[in-house]
Formats: sequence, structure tokens, C-alpha cells
Amino acid sequence: MFQRFRRTRLNGHLRSLVRETNVSVNDFIYPLFIRSGKGVKIEIASMPGVFQMSIDEVLKECEELKRLGLYAIILFGIPDVKDSVGSDSLCSNGIIASSIRAIKKAHPEMFVVTDLCFCEYTDHGHCGIIDEKLQTVNNDATLQISAKQAIIHAEAGVDMIAPSGMMDGIIQTLREALDGAGYENLPIMSYSTKFASGYYGPFRDVAESAPSFGDRASYQMDPANRREAISESLSDELQGADILMVKPALAYLDIVREIKDRTTRPMAVYNVSGEYAMLKFAGLNGLIDYDRVVMETMVSFKRAGADIIISYHAKEVAKLLQK
Ligand code: PBG
Ligand code: ZN
Repeated sequence: MFQRFRRTRLNGHLRSLVRETNVSVNDFIYPLFIRSGKGVKIEIASMPGVFQMSIDEVLKECEELKRLGLYAIILFGIPDVKDSVGSDSLCSNGIIASSIRAIKKAHPEMFVVTDLCFCEYTDHGHCGIIDEKLQTVNNDATLQISAKQAIIHAEAGVDMIAPSGMMDGIIQTLREALDGAGYENLPIMSYSTKFASGYYGPFRDVAESAPSFGDRASYQMDPANRREAISESLSDELQGADILMVKPALAYLDIVREIKDRTTRPMAVYNVSGEYAMLKFAGLNGLIDYDRVVMETMVSFKRAGADIIISYHAKEVAKLLQK
């Protein structure tokens, strides 16, 4: 009897008027996986509906994204050649630099974000240069080549860079490098709280980036640590990150909320490959009402405090919102 709105009165448009959380097509960044060649469009077995594409196919894809009202994309490159330092990502003719130039030329209205990391470009699959003695990533050596990769992306015309390797001090390093090269206005979205997660499994199929030895636990976070998760994001804010991120999303919505309450920066979540695959295969097997569960999941991200959702579902969501 003390309910302000009886649920039975909440019919018709009143339901929309009092809704606390809304999902919009403007909230999304759509991931694209790009490889060399022409006319290449290969569906990923572990992620139905997600493809590796050559640049010409990506340009066609952008047409479709624009029709759906999706203007923000994040690019991942699959180079022809991988080596110990990820050379393809450090040269202006590499797969990502070439893709940025082609996309911005054909579709200047697209907002192009790049994932800045080395795991897709190194033969060992780790997110930086390996220290042979430690048998894991050498943080400071990786900072130096990360700055180089950022400048390559900037020169190619990227709109925002998103460092994902969780190297210590990466945001300050990139901010100084970009400012020093005249890119003061280029924003940085940090993968600021990134957990060492089993949910990245399918991504490593698409990006062909599974580590050949060891794991990423020395530079990604322990899922059990809440305070550490918060401090990682707040440290990146202090270093100059423009946007903070929690990744994965679904199993970490408590962390999204806690960081949101402590920062004035916009927050992103990365709704990762394993989360996508779980819903996709449950839907394909008739176990859930797929469209409904997808929208329920997107609302949960917004409700937890996300301003931006990076998701393989973005096109499906855009279509559902148009209905
Ligand atoms: C690269 C990167 C990864 C993802 C985004 N950027 C892979 C990883 O950390 O292993 C994962 C995205 C996903 O699972 O969808 N560092
Ligand atoms: Zn990486």
C-alpha cells in the first residue's frame, strides 16, 4: 500500500515515462576483426555472427552499421606475420594503420577506436615484449613500443585509442607521447580494470592470439580482488584516462557500480566474447528467448553505471531498438 506507483497502473506510456534506465544505439561500440586480402569474410565458429574481414568487406560493413545508426567501432588486427615484438603493429603499412586510413577515407563520420595491444601481433601471444629471464612481459620495454603504436594509429587518423594490455604506467606514457607529437586532443579509453578471465576464450580464436606459454595473470587482475579493481581504474583516471573500462562485464557489474560511484569519468564495459557466445549458443539451441535476454543484459550494464557498451550484440540491439 506504500508503493508510489502500483504496478497495475504502470501501463502504456507511463511505463516509459518512469523507466530509470534506457538503452540507446548511441551507447555502443562495435568490434571488428580485420585481416589482409580481398573479399574475405570468415565466420568464427565459436562466435556465430562475428567475422574476420578484409578491409574491403569492412568498408561494406560500415555502410550497414551507419544504416543501423551505429557510428562507433573498435578495430582488432590479425596480421599476416607475427614476430616477437609485434612489428606489424609498429609500421604505418600494418593491418590496423591501413584499416584506419581506409575507413576514415570512405566513412569519415565513423568514430574509429583502436585496441592498442601486442597479443594479436606477437608470435608468443602475450600483450608485450617478453623478458626471457622472467618468462613474462617486460612492462617498461612494452611501454616504449606502446607509445610507438599509439603514434602510428594517431598518424593514420584514429579517433580514440584504447590500450588493453594492462601495463603499469601505460596511460601516462601514452598521454605524454601523444601530447609530445601534437595529438593533445586524441582521447584515451583505458581498459583500466581488466580481469584475468576465462571469458576471453572465443576472442582468442578470432584474433588468433592465445598465449603460446604461461597466461596473462601477471598483468591482468585477480577476479577475487575488489579493492585492487577499483584502485586500478582510479590510477588510470589520475594518469589522464578520458574513459575508464571494466572487462569482462557480466560477472563484474558490482565493480562497474563501485568505480562509477568514485569517478567523474565516463565508464565503459566490454561485453566480451565468452559472454556473447553463452547467449548465442543458448539462443541457437532454443534454451532462452535470445532477443529478450540480450536486451535484459544490456539494461543491466546501463543500470550498473556503464555509459558505453562494447558488444558483439550491437547490431542485433540496434535492430531490436528500431522495431
Ligand atoms: C587484447 C584484447 C583482448 C580482448 C580485448 N582486447 C584479449 C585478451 O585480453 O585476451 C578480449 C575481448 C573479448 O573476449 O571479447 N588484449
Ligand atoms: Zn593483449
